[in-house]
Amino acid sequence: MVEQMVQIVSNERDTDLYFRLVARAPQIAPLVQPGQFAHVRILPLKHALLRRPFSIFQVSGDTLSILYKTIGEGTEVLSRMGPGEELSMIGPLGHGFTVPQPGGEVPLLVAGGYGMAALYLLAQRSPQKGIAFVGGRRRVDILCQEEFRALGWEVRVTTEDGSHGEKGLVTQALLAALRVGAPGRKLFACGPTPMLKAVGQLAAELNLPAELSLDEHMGCGVGVCLTCVVPIKAGDGWEYQRTCTEGPVFDSRQIAWEAAK
Ligand SMILES: Cc1cc2nc3c(=O)[nH]c(=O)nc-3n(C[C@H](O)[C@H](O)[C@H](O)COP(=O)(O)OP(=O)(O)OC[C@H]3O[C@@H](n4cnc5c(N)ncnc54)[C@H](O)[C@@H]3O)c2cc1C
Ligand code: FES
Repeated sequence: MVEQMVQIVSNERDTDLYFRLVARAPQIAPLVQPGQFAHVRILPLKHALLRRPFSIFQVSGDTLSILYKTIGEGTEVLSRMGPGEELSMIGPLGHGFTVPQPGGEVPLLVAGGYGMAALYLLAQRSPQKGIAFVGGRRRVDILCQEEFRALGWEVRVTTEDGSHGEKGLVTQALLAALRVGAPGRKLFACGPTPMLKAVGQLAAELNLPAELSLDEHMGCGVGVCLTCVVPIKAGDGWEYQRTCTEGPVFDSRQIAWEAAK
């Protein structure tokens, strides 16, 4: 883990409320593993002490990128920053996805909205290509599908309003595929909590392994403040673990959803 000032190379709108930011981060970029995140201090946001966590989307040489949605003050201010401006970044942080082994289980990726950002490096570094199930409310919430196809992955799109791909929830498309497909598959998911719960439930019902990247609010991002804890099964009960340190990726069988906040 490194803390460094990084310089923005580009920061451009992708679709609607989504932006892609590329930053020169020579100390962080080479260390990144799939599913890890960066904790970003948006320097023009002077009154905000807290950093914002973002999955590391892509890495190339000494640069890395994030793919983010403008939802509040921090991301709004970030979207107005431009090339040459600086951010303070801590990264790479957290425990990411397990990269599939050659000849191992076939990976099925499940993403809602900006969840695609957490899964890109996994898709790129996996020797085994599989299917990426991508869901969103509307067409504009479907991100970077062509980049996944370019990596050799099959991409299946669902939108809740039917404006792109199949109409429905991403988990419905996933279930349909799981019912007809062969055994020996593993799920990897990132997206809104209800989607993650549904993926975890499907995995349990069909006895499939699954890794889920949880989206919890964070304070410090480095394991100190305990803002981000989630209940994880331990012995006959459960214990709290930190999303920023032991996660954000957890084995779905370990998450004690019944005890979650
Ligand atoms: C591990 C991880 C990876 C993430 N990756 C991405 C990504 O790749 N792209 C993306 O667009 N977003 C991602 N998020 C969510 C992102 O951190 C929030 O959207 C962002 O912090 C909102 O900041 P804001 O100031 O615009 O919103 P505000 O609502 O004004 O933020 C107020 C506070 O709440 C926190 N907060 C608000 N929403 C979230 C949230 N969903 N998760 C965590 N903290 C939140 C903020 O950090 C801030 O401290 C990720 C979150 C986590 C935990
Ligand atoms: S955010 Fe502080 S312990 Fe995880």
